[in-house]
Amino acid sequence: MSKLRVGIIGCGGIARSHCDAIAQLRDQVEVLAVADLFEEKRREYMEKYSIPKGYGTHTELLKDDDIDAVAVTLGHQLHHRLTVDACNAGKHVLVEKPMAISLEQCDDMIEAASANGVKLMVGQTQHFYGTSLKAKEILDSGELGPLVTAVCYMSKKWGFSGRPPQYRSRYHGGGMWLSNGVHVVDRLTWVMASQAVSVSASIGTRAHYQAGDDSATAFIRYKNGLAGVAVSVGYADGAPSYECHVICANGSLRFSQHGEKFVKVGKDDKWEDVPFDDPPAQFQNEWKAFVEAIQQDIEPPAHGEWGRHIMEILFAAEESAITGQEVLLESGLNWTTQTSGSPITREHGWV
Ligand SMILES: NC(=O)c1ccc[n+]([C@@H]2O[C@H](COP(=O)([O-])OP(=O)(O)OC[C@H]3O[C@@H](n4cnc5c(N)ncnc54)[C@H](O)[C@@H]3O)[C@@H](O)[C@H]2O)c1
Repeated sequence: MSKLRVGIIGCGGIARSHCDAIAQLRDQVEVLAVADLFEEKRREYMEKYSIPKGYGTHTELLKDDDIDAVAVTLGHQLHHRLTVDACNAGKHVLVEKPMAISLEQCDDMIEAASANGVKLMVGQTQHFYGTSLKAKEILDSGELGPLVTAVCYMSKKWGFSGRPPQYRSRYHGGGMWLSNGVHVVDRLTWVMASQAVSVSASIGTRAHYQAGDDSATAFIRYKNGLAGVAVSVGYADGAPSYECHVICANGSLRFSQHGEKFVKVGKDDKWEDVPFDDPPAQFQNEWKAFVEAIQQDIEPPAHGEWGRHIMEILFAAEESAITGQEVLLESGLNWTTQTSGSPITREHGWV
């Protein structure tokens, strides 16, 4: 296949990371057009990245027959509508996280991609960090023995004053849990290499006056009989942790991409640093995977069903926080439990 020609819808902050990544992959992919409601934003991107076309609305961009795929890089509440429209226009879609703000919306998106024979990938960037890739390689090699448990953190300054209003409002899909907890649950579930069956959580707004949460702790049970903990806190003041700590029967593993960047393996009661590739940056790895999925007609690593499963865990955690009860996942009810401690799979996530 010749170069993939891409349209970027939403020229806010994260679109820059996508354009920077695509610029590093110019043999395989190029940005042909951007769409944003604001002309100055379109202009900024067109000039900086030498992008030939700019549109004021996504509907105009989707009519452009020269565009093969789009990146949906705007607010959470718009992911669903724009993804469905893009699929119906015959474009492959890389949609930013969180996939959407209800399971019905996720289902619509999966259905639209399938009905139109296009690829749908969710921008779960944690899969594409150099540190995460090395950590997953170590776990999948089996050298640490069977997985026992994992705890993943994203605890960072929420930055209330700089957050646009929709990211502070749960109604629009904002708050720390949906905005950043989605990364923690995604990474935890990827590391646990299984499907979640139930979740019990405490979620609240404890450090800010806003209509979205800022802190969550979730205990997630998996089909393989194991459990993990996801902690996602946007504090008013403190010091950050983005670490994931995995304990296996014959060794331990800690890794983090932000703040301190490291992969450490624990054996014989001491931690040793493990080298990892960095660069390429995560968005470059993400785009490589998306392009490969389209060119080779295979499922992208963070496909629609995966994105939906992560959202199902997040929504069930919210229900649990309200009811005070452990919530069984709808998709988990018919699953049979595997023997606890069985080695994790080499496949992407699903056991
Ligand atoms: N993967 C990551 O690590 C990561 C990091 C940051 C943000 N994100 C996600 O990326 C998404 C975008 O975040 P952001 O901070 O860049 O957003 P933003 O709010 O800064 O930018 C959104 C842009 O979309 C434009 N826009 C709004 N409605 C539009 C429409 N109908 N048509 C065209 N343009 C429209 C706005 O004018 C704005 O320029 C969010 O879902 C966020 O969660 C992901």
